[in-house]
Amino acid sequence: MKVTVVGAGAVGASCAEYIAIKDFADEIVLVDIKEGFAEGKAMDLMQTASLNGFDSTITGTTGDYSKTANSDVAVITSGIPRKPGMTREELIGINAGIVKTVSENLIKYSPNVILIVVSNPMDTMTYLAAKATGLPKNRVIGMGGALDSARFKYRLAEAIDCPQSDISAMVIGGHSDVGMVPLIEKATRNSVPVAEFLTEEKAAEVVEATKVGGATLTKLLGTSAWYAPGAAVSELVRAIALDSKKMFPCSAYLEGEYGLNDICIGVPVLIGKNGIEKVVEIELSEAEKAKLNTSAEGVSKTNGLLSVEA
Ligand code: LAC
Repeated sequence: MKVTVVGAGAVGASCAEYIAIKDFADEIVLVDIKEGFAEGKAMDLMQTASLNGFDSTITGTTGDYSKTANSDVAVITSGIPRKPGMTREELIGINAGIVKTVSENLIKYSPNVILIVVSNPMDTMTYLAAKATGLPKNRVIGMGGALDSARFKYRLAEAIDCPQSDISAMVIGGHSDVGMVPLIEKATRNSVPVAEFLTEEKAAEVVEATKVGGATLTKLLGTSAWYAPGAAVSELVRAIALDSKKMFPCSAYLEGEYGLNDICIGVPVLIGKNGIEKVVEIELSEAEKAKLNTSAEGVSKTNGLLSVEA
């Protein structure tokens, strides 16, 4: 498998690092616009191969997309990250143009590629990539829910005081501070609803901490996070490489599923060799449905800014 990662900043480099360490890809290409930067990151990562025990090769290029030719998967992390106090939506002005150009460059050399969009505002950037490339909907995946669900599990395990591996939980909806829908009623500790282990008040705190998970890190780090985003991307790419049909919440283009149309938003999907193999329509409570609809309204509003910006 050949994987391209566009953007060799913290998130892109972390994607490349985790993909390499998991050792399922033959070739990883890092692309950046900053002269020599992707080449440097690639060389640094390659010098960890004997230490970390992987055989994937990692190369870097300053904007030469011909080097990305015939990629099976391309991860788009380009654009600017948010600074403390910013919402992801505020990045649209700069990132929309970048994501559009990058997507077009990628499919020029890799017409069969599966795109994974990470740039923010992620759901809108996924929608833009789908529209700009005209790729079939299974081949454009937005990475948000896999990350948000990992943050939800972290918060649940912390509140319950149990190992994260005990927790099964999912966040759907838009990848935004207000739009995330952590499915707390469906979350379990080894199939036992988490409500058995948490007070209602504590559960509400977990939900809130999950929704602002990215903002909390941005405040601490001065820029947005990279380890968990990189790890989440690597799991999606691995599910494609292994054709595992593992279920993740991802931003997917919907045509009627969950009563939503012409929007990319986080819903459970199966990931396999064709990208999104299936949108899984789980039963949502009335309250969960209402939250997903409100979240979709927010994403649509941000999508509405695209015609002006892109
Ligand atoms: C975050 C960015 C990747 O949530 O959106 O950390």
